[in-house]
Amino acid sequence: SSGIITVVGSYVVDLMSRTPHMPKPGETVLGGPFRMGPGGKGGNQAVAAARQGSRVCMVTKVGNDPFGQAAVKHFQAEHISTDYVFVDDAEATGAALIAVDDNGENMIVVALGACGKLSAEDVAQAEQMIKRSTVVLVQLETSMEAVRKTLELAGTYGVPVILNPAPYQPIPEELLKGVTYITPNETEAFLLTGIEITDEESAYRAASVLYRRGVKHVVITLGKKGCYYYEGGPSGILYPGFHVDAVDTTGAGDAFNGGLAHALAEGRSIRQALRYANAVAALSVTKIGTAPAMPSREEVERFLQNQPIDTTA
Ligand code: RIB
Ligand code: NA
Repeated sequence: SSGIITVVGSYVVDLMSRTPHMPKPGETVLGGPFRMGPGGKGGNQAVAAARQGSRVCMVTKVGNDPFGQAAVKHFQAEHISTDYVFVDDAEATGAALIAVDDNGENMIVVALGACGKLSAEDVAQAEQMIKRSTVVLVQLETSMEAVRKTLELAGTYGVPVILNPAPYQPIPEELLKGVTYITPNETEAFLLTGIEITDEESAYRAASVLYRRGVKHVVITLGKKGCYYYEGGPSGILYPGFHVDAVDTTGAGDAFNGGLAHALAEGRSIRQALRYANAVAALSVTKIGTAPAMPSREEVERFLQNQPIDTTA
């Protein structure tokens, strides 16, 4: 059994449209179709992990509105514990405006609403759940005080934490010391370190900066190229991504993080866990949408069995 994964993060409603190209400032583009569905990086990552068979507890905040009620039903349908889904009476449930172009690339504006109000006190209510967890997973799509409290509690109980620093917010320096795994994409790695990721060498330099700031394991995700892993020393390791036909890359980072949390919670080696996470991410881009596009454990295992023999590391 894989233990519990506690996810402290966002739930928002995704409002998505395809577009033939990304609009320029001032431009209106005829797009469509429109789709609405469950989203938020925290919620998506929770679904990705739960579909791999992990027991997942979601800590988030929604509005006192129909979208908030739908959130609870959504998590229940995914077998995710909603004991710590808080309801804010003043703020509405958050929403994300997502445009996806013909190449499957996306642009997102996220209005946090209630999940921006997740407080340190809310997180503290989940203390016993965090204590019992095998892995804690947190993003930057809530308040920084919620992130701080999560790291503090995980540290107190020695529970490993994955911080997915998305979307980018400046992270107080002392918080990084409490992070076991950090998983920026190329954009976030650049914003965090000032180093542009163009190849393995620059990935190494950015990863070393984060490592020196106190993060034990640095994983820079590289889109379809896979991910770069660094835990000190003269070099890191590139774990190549799997080739698939992408229809919608939205939520691929979430798939990766949920898959990584699951694989680590199951006790896999970091090498196995990163391969697993790459597979979850690859499969997620073959389907439209975010949370609904997360693959099941069976799909991931079948996919991995059909890949060429792993020769990395
Ligand atoms: O990572 C993808 C997610 O980011 C979307 O589901 C959207 O809600 C945004 O927050
Ligand atoms: Na997708």
